[in-house]
Amino acid sequence: MFKNLLDWIEYRIPMMRVANMHAIQYPAPKNMNFWYIFGFLATIVLINQIVTGVWLTMNFVPSSEGAFASVEYIMRDVPYGDILRYMHSTGASAFFIVVYLHMFRGMMYGSYQKPRELLWLFGMFIYLALMAEAFMGYVLPWGQMSYWGAQVIVSLFSAIPIIGPDLVEWIQGDYVISGATLNRFFALHVIALPLVIVILVFLHIVALHEVGSNNPDGVEVKRKKGSLTEEQKTKFKMHEYYTSKYDIIDDVVPFFPHIVLKDLVAFAAFLFIFCYIMFFAPGMGGYFLEHPNFEIANPLKTPEHIFPVWYFTPFYAILKAVPDKLGGVIAMFAAIIALFLLPWIDRGKVKSWRYRCGFHRWNLLIFAAVFIFLGYLGGTPQENWKIIASRIGTIMYFGFFLLLFIYSRNENTKPVPERITK
Ligand code: HEM
Repeated sequence: MFKNLLDWIEYRIPMMRVANMHAIQYPAPKNMNFWYIFGFLATIVLINQIVTGVWLTMNFVPSSEGAFASVEYIMRDVPYGDILRYMHSTGASAFFIVVYLHMFRGMMYGSYQKPRELLWLFGMFIYLALMAEAFMGYVLPWGQMSYWGAQVIVSLFSAIPIIGPDLVEWIQGDYVISGATLNRFFALHVIALPLVIVILVFLHIVALHEVGSNNPDGVEVKRKKGSLTEEQKTKFKMHEYYTSKYDIIDDVVPFFPHIVLKDLVAFAAFLFIFCYIMFFAPGMGGYFLEHPNFEIANPLKTPEHIFPVWYFTPFYAILKAVPDKLGGVIAMFAAIIALFLLPWIDRGKVKSWRYRCGFHRWNLLIFAAVFIFLGYLGGTPQENWKIIASRIGTIMYFGFFLLLFIYSRNENTKPVPERITK
């Protein structure tokens, strides 16, 4: 009976065909390693954020009078409210940890290079939307950091010539950050941006499956047409579809069970870490939930230090490194735009850093270290040496892209294997 029901549905919508093509039988390169778990983990965290967000919304009051108290109510009186809130707040930081590692993987293995430029662009749009989503979410509890953080970030737009001040007023929905701002941020945070993110993730996966996954060797898994034996073809039930796209089945394995099992192991490990933080250190010493945010927003009392949450601090350090406000804003946006342009900045023919020149590896590793260091600088109180260090860090950040553009054209690469190795 169950099979009849499935057949009935399948006749009307291609449920199993799509599941086979994009999950069960999706041909994944057999050498996918540890770094390939983060796309799956990002999907899990996205689901966590949406589900816990829906439940939090049921008891949250999006007004300047009610927001802070409603969060306290969720924490103390709503059954399992504290767990829901910490799942959501820990999830926000977990999202960025996972996404940063996911992006770094793409940079190591050249997954943004042809033919995956659009996949990378969709990823970058997800990253932008995620930053907007996290920023607006942080305003909602209406604590001191929510208020003053919003104040600092929204006022950045005032640096834009001519339209700046009007733009700030338009964003705030008021002359100052107020309940009206909170209310519109709530609307954007709970429906508009999640919708955009979900659509972008869908497009991200469609773009990935159109060209196929890259792998740690950075060599495509295709081979000359007509090279498959009948035995190889039958290994994949969907062979009619895949043999037209992938000529070499030896280099790939069906997504289920091979990759699914790897992902499940990663998921179990991730859950241990996630639950440990959620239950024992949800604030992570002020990194995941900043201390001033346990105090209600007070427009008359500026906190001693105002920092964004850790995942924004590298860009915040770049903003602060430039003495001029408009210059700082331009530098900060340029830092993000450079990442968007990576597929065109890198003119190399070889994808994976395994086979690129030693200089490239160092360039990428130093870039990652500089990004973390800028994060430290942007998230701690300013001192003289830190201002100088942020300037050097900012130059090094942009230096990565500039150097890459220069040396990638005529790079001394190692011999690239024809087929993926291990
Ligand atoms: C909500 C956030 C995101 C989700 C849910 C997500 C999901 C995924 C999934 C499931 C995969 C396939 C599995 C894997 O390779 O790990 C993938 C691949 C990929 N993603 Fe994302 N992603 C997200 C954000 C990003 C961002 C911000 C970027 C970079 C700007 C990015 C760039 C890539 C690239 C280049 C690949 C292909 C990697 C390869 O084949 O080597 N993704 N993504």
